[in-house]
Formats: sequence, structure tokens, C-alpha cells
Amino acid sequence: MTDASRQRSKRRPVRRLLGVAMLGVATFALAACTPAPDLAWQPPVRAAVTSFDEAVGDVAGAEPGSTPLDHHRIRDSAPAVDARWTEVPGQTDLNARVRSLVVDAVGAFASRLGTTYEPEAAAAGAGLGSRGCEGGSSSTLAAEVLAQGGATEGEALVITCEIVVASGSEFGERVRVVEGTVGATPAVTRDESFVFFADTATAQQAGGADVITADAALSIWNELVLAARRELGALWDTQVAPPSEANAAVLAKGFADVTPTPDGGLRIGIPAGLLTPEMDVSGGADAAPPISPDGETTLVVGEPISHRFPSIHIAADAAAPMLTDLGRELVAASATPQPLLAGERPLAGERDVNCELFACVALTFDDGPAPITETLLGQLRDHDATATFFLVGPNVQRYPEIARQIDDDGHQLGNHSWSHPQFTTLDDKKIEEEVKKTNDAILAATGERPSVFRPPYGDVDARVLTKVGMPSILWDIDTLDWEGPPHETIVDRGANEAEAGSIILMHDIHDSTVDAVPEILTGLHDRGFVLVTIDQIFGGAPAAGNSYTSAR
Ligand code: NI
Repeated sequence: MTDASRQRSKRRPVRRLLGVAMLGVATFALAACTPAPDLAWQPPVRAAVTSFDEAVGDVAGAEPGSTPLDHHRIRDSAPAVDARWTEVPGQTDLNARVRSLVVDAVGAFASRLGTTYEPEAAAAGAGLGSRGCEGGSSSTLAAEVLAQGGATEGEALVITCEIVVASGSEFGERVRVVEGTVGATPAVTRDESFVFFADTATAQQAGGADVITADAALSIWNELVLAARRELGALWDTQVAPPSEANAAVLAKGFADVTPTPDGGLRIGIPAGLLTPEMDVSGGADAAPPISPDGETTLVVGEPISHRFPSIHIAADAAAPMLTDLGRELVAASATPQPLLAGERPLAGERDVNCELFACVALTFDDGPAPITETLLGQLRDHDATATFFLVGPNVQRYPEIARQIDDDGHQLGNHSWSHPQFTTLDDKKIEEEVKKTNDAILAATGERPSVFRPPYGDVDARVLTKVGMPSILWDIDTLDWEGPPHETIVDRGANEAEAGSIILMHDIHDSTVDAVPEILTGLHDRGFVLVTIDQIFGGAPAAGNSYTSAR
């Protein structure tokens, strides 16, 4: 479509409305002899209120990766769930509230479908490396939010979020829960938003309703009706009638989806219960549905406004009298971006990761430490990832500073014996000696006593387990990296074969292995995995006397 033809198609419905209006004007003109209407007149161009983000710009500090925030994402195929949210290091209360909202919504959705949520990794190329809040997700139409989830057919739940203020000690996040059907007959059955504010210095919590005064609702109603009329191409700004009884009931509950905008104004989400008759610019519920300026979108009478029109923006001067003290603080913080004051983020291997919620995977490296391990440690740091290192005693004695660096970086240390023998062929005394010498070497180099053991060649039996006195950690994904396969093969085995709960075996004594790690980390991240240590994947230290191949 050319620009000119788009212009024409945009104007056509407006002309139609204008024609209806002119009929009345012409009848009146005959009687009063007023001048004929100016046929070249065009309605004034106003900014569409749904292009909210263009109006107010990006929120400072909201970009994943640019802040010390914890950006999360989970996806399951049955039930079809795709949820993203952001937590702030050190803000225990805020994080618990946001996370419970997500977990409860997922649980309720799954139970309604008669199933349960289980962490699941997606196929390669899923794009799940994109995590946490997204700028603009508040003003995206619910049907689009639903379509952006992973599901292509049937009932789906999508949870998304937007960071609405992140400046100094003021943090705010809007979490949006959308449910419905995707596929041939798409439908939205739930579109609900929850606003969380926290003062990161005092840990004080607030919600969207705390931003505006109790008597602001009618002013907002007025703004909302005017904005909707403008959006629908109405040509007049006559006085707004009071809300209907049904809408008054919705308004009485107040506006809870209220967030500050960097221009000093407010963004107000439209409550789900508001229906359209008050928005109707074409003459009431019996008339033809109004047509928007793009000539295509019509607002169906009786359809919740929020499905088509998720929010309005109230400019600074109109917003000022509506604000509470907290509202003024948040608007000021939003308008003057400063680095967010947040707690220190723990190292990846020291975080509290719930592997019943996230798709966890444990990378393990055997036979080191070696000089190339230092390169590997840098790669793990760059990818905010962690791993478990099963060390052999003599290498620890040879490279004690590398063993210490592994520990300092928050990774888990494991025992891989002294002389790499087949343990089932050893007598009891020799088994104890192999384990003890290596534990002593690791303790001497790092100050840490390892709590997990990996038998060389995976060779273990009940007697060995008893004598070792530590849990035996095997693997379910073997990259066979020691055989020297092509680069692509190591990457493919490392990134694409794991499932939630998998333990991947690699060796940090081969350059070719370490060369493949960045692509493996990126690939696992893209599939939705969280990289964890052995203790993290088991939700605590696994029990001695047992042998594990995975955490499933
Ligand atoms: Ni080995």
C-alpha cells in the first residue's frame, strides 16, 4: 500500500462519520441560513494513545543486562505457559510477591486444565535467552501478548512484565497475566495487570492504587472517555456523561494499574470490567459499531475496552492533582533517571535457584584443573553461568591457584580421585586412600572440602559407594569430547541433548572442549536453561551412598 492510498483509507471512515454529522448540520443550515460547511476540513491529527511508548520513551534501567537485576523466563508446552519476570537482588519481599503471582497464576492455569506445570527446556533456537521484563509490553494488545508466547494452538497463559520505574531507590514493575486461546480461533479470556513498587532502601512495598488519591477516579474516567473517543476518530470533545452503574461499580474498586511515566505523567491501565457503550461515538448501542481512523479496527459494543485499548496516558499537568505523596515521589524518580540502588547479586553458583520452577542443567568438567581452565572460568563469568569441577588430586597440587579461582568464582568442587583408577577393581583401603588424598589436596588449595564424587569411567558399585562416603555423580549427557569430535559435534551434544535436570559431562583439559563452551552456554540459555551446580540442581547436597545420573 502506498502512503497516499493509506492516507485515503485512513480518511474514508472519518468522512463517513463526518457525513452523518453534516446531515444534521445541513438541515439546521437551511433554517438558520448559516454558511455551508467547509468540505475540505479535516479532523485535527492527535497522537494515538496506544502509541504510548513512543510518547514517553524508554524507561531508564529497564534493559536486561544493563542492570544488576535478575531476569527470569519459564516455558512449558503442556500446559502452554510462557512467563517472564524480573527480580531485584536483595529485595526479598518484592521478589517473593512477584514470584508468587507468577507461580500461583501458572498453578491455577495448569490445574484448570487438569495438569501440572513442570520445568521444560525448549528446542534449539527457541529464543528463551530473552528473559525478564520487556519495554512496551504494557501497551501491547492482549491478543498480541498471547500470540507472542510459545504456544501455537489451544489454551495458553502468557505472563509478561515491564519495569516502570528504576531510579535511585524507587523500583516498580508491572506484571501482566494474559490467558486465552491461540490458533485458528484466538480469544482472550483474562488480561490482568499487577503493579509492584518497592523502595529498595527501606524495602517498603506499595501498589498501583497507592499512586493516586481516592477521588481521582472520576477525573480518570473523564480522560479515559476522551482518549477513547480520540482513538476512535471522534470529532468532538463534548462533556463526558457520568459512568453507567456497571462502570461506576468497576471504578469504585479504583484504578490499581497506575504507573508513573518519565514525562511526569501517568499510565493508567483500563480495568477489565469496563464495557464500551460510553465509548461509542456513533450513536448508542443500536447503531453500527464505530470505526477507528485506520478504517479496519472496530470496537465491538459490549467488548471489554481493555481488549482493544489497554491503557491511557495522562499528561503531567492533568496528573499532578491526582497524585499521592508516593505518587509524586515515583513520578519524580521516573522523570530523573539515576542508577538503581540494588543489592549485590550473588555469584551464579551461590544463588537460590528453584529447579522445580526453572529448567536447570548442570555442566560438569572432569580431570582438571589445567591452564586452559582459566579460559573456561572467564567464559562462565561472561555468561553468568556456573559449573561443577571434578578435580584430580595431582592437578590440584600442580595448579592450586586455578583450583582456588574455581572456588572463588562460586563454582562447585568435586573429587575425581587421585590416580584416575577403576574404583570397582580397588580394595577398600585403596578406595579410601584415593578419596582422602584428593579431598586433602582440594582442602589445602581452596579451603573447601568437596561433597560430591565422580568415579573415573563412571565405574561404581555399592561397595565403592560405601567406602567413598560421598554421593557419586554420573551424567546423562556425554559429549564424548575426549574423542576429539568436530567442533560442531561437541556444540550440538553439549547444547541440544540436555533435558531439564540433565548433567552434562565434559573435560576441561582439551582446548577443543573449552573452545566449544561459549556456543554451548549460549545454546543452553536460548533453550531456556538455567546453568546450575550439582548442589543447586538437587536443591541441596545429594545424599552420600547414592549414585545419580541426573536430577529427574
Ligand atoms: Ni576422568
